[in-house]
Amino acid sequence: MGNEIVADGAYEIRGIGVTLLRQMPAVISISQLTKTYASDLKALKHIDLEIHRGEIFALLGPNGAGKTTLISVVCGIVTPTTGTVLVDGHDIVREYRAARSKIGLVPQELHTDMFESVWATVNFSRGLFGHAPNPAHLEKVLRDLSLWDKRNDKIMTLSGGMKRRVLIAKALAHEPEILFLDEPTAGVDVELRRDMWALVRRLRESGVTIILTTHYIDEAEEMADRIGVINKGELIVVEEKVGLMKKLGKKQLTLHLLEPLASLPLELSDWRLALKLGGSEIEYTFDGREEQTRIPALLRRLDELGIGFKDLQTRQSSLEDIFVSLVKAQSDHPWSAPLASVPSPSERA
Ligand SMILES: Nc1ncnc2c1ncn2[C@@H]1O[C@H](COP(=O)(O)OP(=O)(O)OP(=O)(O)O)[C@@H](O)[C@H]1O
Ligand SMILES: [Mg+2]
Repeated sequence: MGNEIVADGAYEIRGIGVTLLRQMPAVISISQLTKTYASDLKALKHIDLEIHRGEIFALLGPNGAGKTTLISVVCGIVTPTTGTVLVDGHDIVREYRAARSKIGLVPQELHTDMFESVWATVNFSRGLFGHAPNPAHLEKVLRDLSLWDKRNDKIMTLSGGMKRRVLIAKALAHEPEILFLDEPTAGVDVELRRDMWALVRRLRESGVTIILTTHYIDEAEEMADRIGVINKGELIVVEEKVGLMKKLGKKQLTLHLLEPLASLPLELSDWRLALKLGGSEIEYTFDGREEQTRIPALLRRLDELGIGFKDLQTRQSSLEDIFVSLVKAQSDHPWSAPLASVPSPSERA
């Protein structure tokens, strides 16, 4: 896809578009949002978050972190205790209908009328938002989700994965500008997962803003422009995915030596090295910000010292490594900023 106008005359070029998206007005503005349930449980604590128009935002967090609560507040299903949420400028409490009409929600839990047909359910969802019937749109949605052949079947006769597709079809029935997907791929097969990713990308191409939660971190790594990490009701990180991986990611170079070393020579003390596997491997760990130009110098120094190697491997920490470190760091030191003290995957091992 080439250049395209996404809004307000701002040009987005795929790949580098995230920076430009940041300068665009927020489509969702959440400020100082707190939710305390009747049980006195503080599910959300002072959340500030802006979602940019046209982005894919992945919200990550362990079970019970507050992801569904946050989504439910924005969608008007759960009332906030304090704070404000604006959806395209509309306050979710005072202007509930206007705010809600912008949003499609694919909920985490499956609950829909089991005795209705697929077509009736999806058509009804569209009507709920006051839209005129549009069979052509519904047909496209059902075909996109491979549900067209099932359109006359009762929902109770569908498999779990198909029921999940029906939830997505319902959310898309009224052509929302913002789509929330709460764990859309939990328990679905590989094929549906891939279809879902393709569908999400197509929706984004058509200008829809997407907020998804997932426990499959590779999904966030694959799809998201930005990542938010929530833990125990606190939003601990919001970052562009690429920046997050660069900032907190570690890289590791492993050299498999021809002859084991008893210890690391002093001449190698300029690099952060570790001797592994009884001296038969040298492991060099460096962070994503560090210049990789130090590798040739290391290899030259090894050559000068007569240390030969037969193979080498590099490894980069995944978003999953980073996520686990962030959540762990916050759980260990809930009052300190986790960013400064995130241990590397190797340090954690
Ligand atoms: N209706 C409710 N009444 C009381 N407590 C609730 C209610 N809904 C959620 N909670 C609590 O709020 C906290 C956050 O729950 P939430 O469902 O938002 O988590 P989540 O991040 O979506 O978790 P998961 O990954 O398991 O879906 C949990 O401790 C949960 O038990
Ligand atoms: Mg949830």
